[in-house]
Amino acid sequence: MQKPEQTRLLLFMESNTSSLVELRNLTFGYGERVILDDVSLRIPRGKVTALMGASGGGKTTILRLIGGQNRAQSGEMLFDGQDVTRMDQRQLYAARRRMGMLFQFGALFADLSVYENVAFPLHEHTDLPEALVRDIVLMKLNAVGLRGARDLMPSDLSGGMARRIALARAIALDPELVMYDEPFSGLDPISLGTAANLIRHLNDSMGLTSVFVSHELEETFSISDHVIILANGKIAAQGTPEEVRKSADPLVYQYVHALPDGPVRFHYPGVSVEDDFGVGAASPSVSPGAAA
Ligand SMILES: Nc1ncnc2c1ncn2[C@@H]1O[C@H](COP(=O)(O)OP(=O)(O)OP(=O)(O)O)[C@@H](O)[C@H]1O
Ligand SMILES: [Mg+2]
Repeated sequence: MQKPEQTRLLLFMESNTSSLVELRNLTFGYGERVILDDVSLRIPRGKVTALMGASGGGKTTILRLIGGQNRAQSGEMLFDGQDVTRMDQRQLYAARRRMGMLFQFGALFADLSVYENVAFPLHEHTDLPEALVRDIVLMKLNAVGLRGARDLMPSDLSGGMARRIALARAIALDPELVMYDEPFSGLDPISLGTAANLIRHLNDSMGLTSVFVSHELEETFSISDHVIILANGKIAAQGTPEEVRKSADPLVYQYVHALPDGPVRFHYPGVSVEDDFGVGAASPSVSPGAAA
């Protein structure tokens, strides 16, 4: 039987350790332009988190803040309880060593074989003997089902295979946190399903914490524990897929139901339809007297 103090201590510890990443009242902009405005969000440890929202909303920016490539202007960017914003080069390097990243347009190195692509981070960041590097590379390739493709060059791979190799490369260093920026873009439904299941499976079998950016609603909701939707520089919704699906926020409703019109307008702002097509609409902009 646990004493009440023990229970309290455990609850306290859990609240401190349950998020691997936490943004607290974080504001970030490029120059004068604010991209994230007083944003607070958390990425739960050991879980799969999806980051969604309209294009240009700041999803890649958030991943870059986590990796310390972008520095917040105010607020906190906590990785395992430490503020990335205040880290010096050495601390940042150590933190990045614990993160794996699949970049948005993260092509493989075209002139390196599949094997060499996955071995690359191991050669860059460790001085492990080659025999061990080989075992790790083959293990990672096996995890994504492509051990047999080790000698192929990137130009010999389909888009779905290339994505899985990039996934293997992102987990080569056994990171605690893996960030995937649009891992599904351009994939056919089968490859998409395979990639989505892999993210879930790798997360659970390797004890990772995963965060991925995606626009694919159904696949995303089916593999995620936690969903965050960004809109207009703020968090529009955050919670389990079910909670987010039920959100009353009109923007979230439009997004999760994929409605073409709503708070996000279909039409680019301009003069009204009546002004353009109705009675008294402006005459053609080419004046009759203009030279042919
Ligand atoms: N280096 C930069 N300098 C200035 N503005 C930038 C820079 N990088 C991104 N931006 C702007 O910041 C905004 C957010 O960009 P970000 O790449 O985070 O969006 P995103 O949500 O990932 O979009 P997408 O879904 O299209 O990838 C965009 O409007 C973009 O133009
Ligand atoms: Mg992006």
